Amino acid sequence: MSDASQIEQLRQALHRHAHLYYVLDAPEIPDAEYDRLFRELQALEARHPELIAPDSPTQRVGGKALDQFLPVRHAVPMLSIRTETDTESSGAKNFDARVRRELEWTEDAAAVEYVAELKFDGLAMNLRYERGVLVQAATRGDGETGEDVTQNIRTIGQIPLRIEPGSQWMPLPDVLEVRGEVYMRRDDFEALNERQRERIAAGAKGEKTFVNPRNAAAGAVRQLDPAIAAQRPLSFFAYGVGEIAPRPATELFSTHMELLQTLKAWGFPVASQVQVVVGAPGLVAYHQRIARERDALPFDIDGVVYKVNSLALQQRLGFVTREPRWAVAHKYPAQEQLTTVLGIDVQVGRTGKLTPVAKLAPVFVGGVTVTNATLHNEDEARRKDVRVGDTVVVRRAGDVIPEVVSVLVEKRVEGAALFTMPRVCPVCGSDAVREDGEADYRCTGGLFCSAQRKQAILHFAQRRAVEIEGLGDKLVEQLVDANVVRTLPDLYRLGLNALVSLDRMAEKSAQNIIDALEKSKHTTLSALFLDWASAMWARPPRKSWPGTSARSTPS
Ligand code: IVH
Repeated sequence: MSDASQIEQLRQALHRHAHLYYVLDAPEIPDAEYDRLFRELQALEARHPELIAPDSPTQRVGGKALDQFLPVRHAVPMLSIRTETDTESSGAKNFDARVRRELEWTEDAAAVEYVAELKFDGLAMNLRYERGVLVQAATRGDGETGEDVTQNIRTIGQIPLRIEPGSQWMPLPDVLEVRGEVYMRRDDFEALNERQRERIAAGAKGEKTFVNPRNAAAGAVRQLDPAIAAQRPLSFFAYGVGEIAPRPATELFSTHMELLQTLKAWGFPVASQVQVVVGAPGLVAYHQRIARERDALPFDIDGVVYKVNSLALQQRLGFVTREPRWAVAHKYPAQEQLTTVLGIDVQVGRTGKLTPVAKLAPVFVGGVTVTNATLHNEDEARRKDVRVGDTVVVRRAGDVIPEVVSVLVEKRVEGAALFTMPRVCPVCGSDAVREDGEADYRCTGGLFCSAQRKQAILHFAQRRAVEIEGLGDKLVEQLVDANVVRTLPDLYRLGLNALVSLDRMAEKSAQNIIDALEKSKHTTLSALFLDWASAMWARPPRKSWPGTSARSTPS
């Protein structure tokens, strides 16, 4: 086989495996095998630089850093959709009524069919393919003119560099513009920020953490150096098209759903939540369903979008100014809100890690009332410069713990004091130390520290193998605070009287706990753990003892 045809074969294989891995989440070969094929292609291309093509998988991160982005005039303007905040469901009914009126449909005419979609919270992107090859990616800009961000977009594994002729069920148009949203998944965002925090702790200059996945995605897309963009994990969802030639979309597809399904078959990620629904009741049900599922999604959405399914009806409805009459977006309550900082507490975790936590005036954000938000560590608290009395932006998305993302400095009250980490543990008074290159302060009190003791006992009680029924955080708190339980073995020496003497503890519940403890003794794991724990508790804590610092008695 000639090198040229071998190069072509490798490219096809790598395109296919990238699609299986990034889009379908169903890899057929191990990562190591993918890497081997990739290196083989790299080696062949190194021998034949004349054969390197922009759609080669090796070219995802190939470009040089730019001075600026070049403007791109969109062949078809990128419109926005009318957006309404709709926490009730009346918006759906109003939209359906509006559509029926514009179409001059009478009361007894059939219900309108819609496609209901998620409204992704990222940035709109136009991907232009010519004869199946990605030639340009452009941001929306003002809708008429965007910016050429092709180099950065190429680094997104989910975006095909080439649409494979074999994978289509419809002849590929010569020109195909796919429109959709570039976004960052919540887990990728958390991991990126964690990395950034480590870098900052290690002394890296000019680094910062990102406020939310949308900002992180926007920053990555507008990054002039594609090598940096490649380290910011982005994802993509297709939701429409721009220019299609020679035959327009209306001649190729009869519905929006058909168009989405074709994009999917051509290798583009389409959200699994898209759904054809009928009439206003269908829209309302979708709105409610997604409101329930929103927290569990792996990415941020800020609402849902309804689109008339029939492309012929879309054409009849047309546009008002810059918005189509056939689509509307309904937003959910925001995942970011303003509130004030009432205080800053420092909490002690099981391993002694000290975490500053902002106490907030209660605020309804992301569907729940939030009163605490983590400040992570000293560097983060300093960098954000959160002070008591400050007005702050709080973010809560999905199951992620609420976070203070920024401070409205202009609203700061005079004399607000800078936050400093305590040098002693706020619970036991032992020294708190931060080792070189570490982001966190730790209490050195070990199990002498009642906070660590509580957490250790709880951790033990909640291990699935042991599971001591009824031993929750409130009870552990009482037992440790009353000095009834100082060590894990103490737990197993608990008598009925000691338990009954506690607040709100009836004899029956006390007996249940004693039974549960007795039961847990017989699991081999807890027996092993008890031996180990008895030995642990017999040892003195590592560093300071009471008397050497602020507080002198265990709390
Ligand atoms: S359709 C003519 N569908 O919302 C209709 N847009 O104002 C064009 N967006 O920034 C847009 N999810 O990037 C459409 N499923 C979705 C969307 C969506 C998010 C964004 C879009 C634009 C804004 C529209």
